[in-house]
This record gives sequence, structure tokens and C-alpha cells, in this order.
Amino acid sequence: MKQIKKITCIGAGYVGGPTMSVIAQKNPDIQITVVDVNKARIAAWNDDDLSQLPIYEKGLDAVVAETRGRNLFFDTDVDKAIDEADMIFISVNTPTKTYGKGKGQAADLKFIELCARQIAAVAKDDKIVVEKSTLPVRTADALKSILDNTSNGINFHILSNPEFLAEGTAIEDLYNPDRVLIGGENIEAIEALVQLYAQWVPRERIITTNLWSSELSKLVANAFLAQRVSSINAVSELCEVTGANVEEVAKAVGMDSRIGSKFLKASVGFGGSCFQKDILNLVYIARSYKLDAVADYWEQVIIMNDHQKTRFAEKIVQTMYNTVNGKHIAFLGWAFKKDTNDTRESAAIYVADHLLDEEAQIVVYDPKVSPEQVYRDLDFLGTRTPEANRRLVKVVDDPYTALDGAHAAAVLTEWDVFKTYDWKQIKAGMKKPAFVFDGRKLLDRSQLETLGFKYYAIGE
Ligand code: UDX
Ligand code: UDX
Ligand code: ADP
Repeated sequence: MKQIKKITCIGAGYVGGPTMSVIAQKNPDIQITVVDVNKARIAAWNDDDLSQLPIYEKGLDAVVAETRGRNLFFDTDVDKAIDEADMIFISVNTPTKTYGKGKGQAADLKFIELCARQIAAVAKDDKIVVEKSTLPVRTADALKSILDNTSNGINFHILSNPEFLAEGTAIEDLYNPDRVLIGGENIEAIEALVQLYAQWVPRERIITTNLWSSELSKLVANAFLAQRVSSINAVSELCEVTGANVEEVAKAVGMDSRIGSKFLKASVGFGGSCFQKDILNLVYIARSYKLDAVADYWEQVIIMNDHQKTRFAEKIVQTMYNTVNGKHIAFLGWAFKKDTNDTRESAAIYVADHLLDEEAQIVVYDPKVSPEQVYRDLDFLGTRTPEANRRLVKVVDDPYTALDGAHAAAVLTEWDVFKTYDWKQIKAGMKKPAFVFDGRKLLDRSQLETLGFKYYAIGE
């Protein structure tokens, strides 16, 4: 296997951008080009003003400042980048299918297939092709078949190298991963990829498996994580009716070292681009092998998550005397979790949709999410016209403005800054009784109750 000198990553998104930035930082002798068909996104990656990078991740700007123009490049010329590369990462989006067979469940692999065809058409010498995007098990087979059948005598070695970074902590996770997983068949190709990571990751944390184990592990890891959230959310509902406190239960349960304390925070529901998509994918795969008991088991994680979002919205309506018609509800947070501007599958979208059905007036404040994104998310649901969404929902850039004159505040994202607000001043400007619905158990109950708020938190 020849020395890896040039790497190309197809897809400059939440995964490709940060991952390649860190690989470039740790491998200064390798030239890395990240390409994307989205010209605006590439322009943003190349912006001199680092606050304009297309994604917000703590510490990312510093890594880009160090590497960009040195050995990290962002470009729209996909063919040229493929041609020059020894190793090609595929990091394009694999959304849930919105049409045809498997609609609403299976992963849509059209972007992956397009990449494979483009690589096959352009490549003139041997390449290592690395699947970085989360893919259904045995996608590598499809990739290999496309690559082997459309090119002339070129060797493609396919590796699976799923990314486990979480948004909001991407750079930290990349610097210090629990493990790096590499699946493949060709020892030399595997070793070439191991070398990249070994520049900063201890060797014992780089594990190698066969292709299928690697692909499946990624889906299963996300399914297990999501399952923990749904499990604690199921318990949160039980706590509310029995007088137990979900935080106390989570602590008591999590101290069992066999269970562990992480990922047991009850919430208004998990969001993000991965959990729902990957579980649906797992369910689809299980069903396609006629493993109905397995499919039903995992599907329940999604059903519980949907239930939690609906339940939170219904709690708001019910508490506010069974009507929110014309009432002003301030949403604190729209992102699917704190410290990111990503809103994909955010619980806030579905809670808002439910309340809009009840004709509430929603005013949104999120420190990192733009008004355009909020409207895009609501329009995408197709529940009502874009005009209706704009009439019923306002997005403001100041939290006090969002809360001024509100009947209720609803916390949808756990941004730390929400805790620092002057809640006494906020209460003075709100309609009475002033309600707070805390979907993240973020605020201080005793403080808010002392100030005279009617405070509801998940699981208490
Ligand atoms: C369990 C709890 O562990 C303990 O804390 C509680 O007080 C009582 O219930 P026990 O039933 O004695 O204890 O055994 P445990 O080791 O938990 O195993 C229970 C069952 O799960 C066994 O049949 C075991 O074979 C099975 N198991 C456990 C698995 O199949 N796989 C595992 O990874 C672990
Ligand atoms: C997840 C996985 O953590 C990561 O390993 C994988 O690579 C991609 O998917 P991400 O979606 O970025 O990462 O965020 P994560 O921190 O896992 O949170 C997902 C959702 O679960 C968020 O909406 C979060 O608020 C929610 N969550 C998480 C809870 O409600 N409670 C918890 O205890 C943990
Ligand atoms: P992820 O969270 O998996 O990184 P994103 O949606 O943030 O997903 O990023 C995926 C990127 O891949 C998008 O910017 C999209 O434009 C890009 N992309 C999709 N298909 C192709 C393709 N055939 N060639 C180049 N870029 C592509």
C-alpha cells in the first residue's frame, strides 16, 4: 500500500467538516480537501470571518484557523478532488426515505450511490474508500458492486469508519474518542487508516472489525443511547403520577456500575439527525429479514419519544385551563440540544406544531438558531401553510423580548445561559399566573416558586 499523501472528503457537513479539520490538524503532512456540491456551504467554510463557519462547534474555529490553507482545503470541484486522492471519505447525508419502498424508515442512499458512481467515473488509480456516514448494514456491498462494475481494473478497498462524535462537543470528542472503529477486509487499507488516527489516539482505543460489524455497531450504539433516553422518559411519566422524582431515581439507578450514570437525563424527547433515523433504519433492516420481534422492540424507543413530545405539549394546554388559543407562549430554545445550531428532529419543532394546532402564538428565542431555520423546520412538516406559520410564530433575537407579555415560558433546549436570566424581571413582564414549563429540568424550582411562578418540570 502506498503512503497516503492526499485525502478527499465528500460532504462538508456536521460530520465531515469537524472530523477532517481535526485529522488535518494531527496529520500536517497529509493534504486534505473537503468537497461539497453546496456552493454556499463551501463559501462559508472558506470565509475569512471564522464566526461565519457553517456549523457552530466550540473550538472548531481555532482548528480551522490553524489548518485551513496549510493542509486543509474546502472546494466545490468534486471530480478533481477525487482524482487526486489516495483515500476518499464519504460523509454525505443519509436521510430517512421520504418516498417509495421503506418510506419513513429506510435510509435514503441516493447521495451515497451518486458518490460511488462519481468515484468510479473519475478514478484513474487505486483508492481506499471510507464510509463515514452512518449506513445500513451491508451498504459496503452496494458500494463495492458499483465501484467494481463501472471502472477499468482499478482496485477499491472499502472501509467502514463510523463517527461517534456528538454535536456540541465534536472537537472534544474527536480529540479524545472512547474508541475509533474501523471495519474492513484489506489489512493494508485498514492499517493506512489506523495510521491517521494513531497520530493522536492511543492504539488500544483503535479497534478493527469486519465491515458488517462496524456498520452495525454504529446503528446499535445510537439505538442503545436513544433507548436509555426513552427508558428514563418513560420513568419520568411514572414519577409525575407517583410522587417519585426522576432525577433521584436516575441517580439511584445510575450508580449501579452495570447501568452507569450517563445519558439518563429525562427530557422533552431526544432529537438530532441520528437517533431516530438510525433506529428506524434498524427497524427496517430487522423487518426486511422478517425479524418482527426485534423490529417491534426497537420501534418502541421511537414510539416512547413521540409520546414524550406530545405529552409535554398536552401538559401545557391542560395546565393553562385547557386552552392556549391566542395565548403567547415563549419558547426558550429551538436546537435539539445545547451548544449547537442544529435543529434536525428537535423536540421543539413537534411541541410547537402541537401548540399551533391549538392556535397558540409562539415566540421563539434560541441563542444560535436563525429565524429562517425555525420557519424552514415548521414549513417542512407541511401541517399548515408557510403564511400561517409566519403569522403564528415570531422569532426574536432577545430572550426578554420573547418573554415580554407571555402567558407561559417553555424551555425546549438546555442552554446554560437560560439559568442566568433575571427571572424576577421576567415575571414582572408576564401575564399572571406566570407559567414555566421546563422540558429540560434546567431551572431552579425553589427560586421560581419563590418568585411566584407556576413551575412544571418533566418527571417531578
Ligand atoms: C438480579 C440483579 O442483578 C440484582 O441486582 C438484584 O438484586 C436481583 O436481580 P440475579 O437475578 O441474581 O440478580 O442475577 P443477574 O446476574 O442479574 O442475572 C439475571 C439473569 O440475566 C440471569 O439469567 C443471567 O444469565 C442473565 N444475564 C445477565 C444475561 O443473559 N446477560 C447479561 O449480560 C447479564
Ligand atoms: C448522537 C450520539 O451521541 C453520537 O455518538 C453519534 O455520533 C450521533 O448521535 P448527537 O445527536 O449529536 O449525538 O447528540 P446527543 O448528545 O447524543 O443527544 C441526542 C439527543 O438526546 C438530544 O436531543 C439530547 O437532548 C437528548 N438527550 C441526551 C436526552 O434527552 N437525555 C440524555 O440523557 C442525553
Ligand atoms: P452530516 O450530519 O452527516 O454531516 P450534513 O447534511 O450536515 O450531514 O452534511 C452532508 C453534506 O454532504 C451536505 O453539505 C451535502 O451538500 C453534501 N453532499 C451530499 N451529496 C453530495 C455529493 N454527491 N457530492 C458532494 N457533496 C454532497
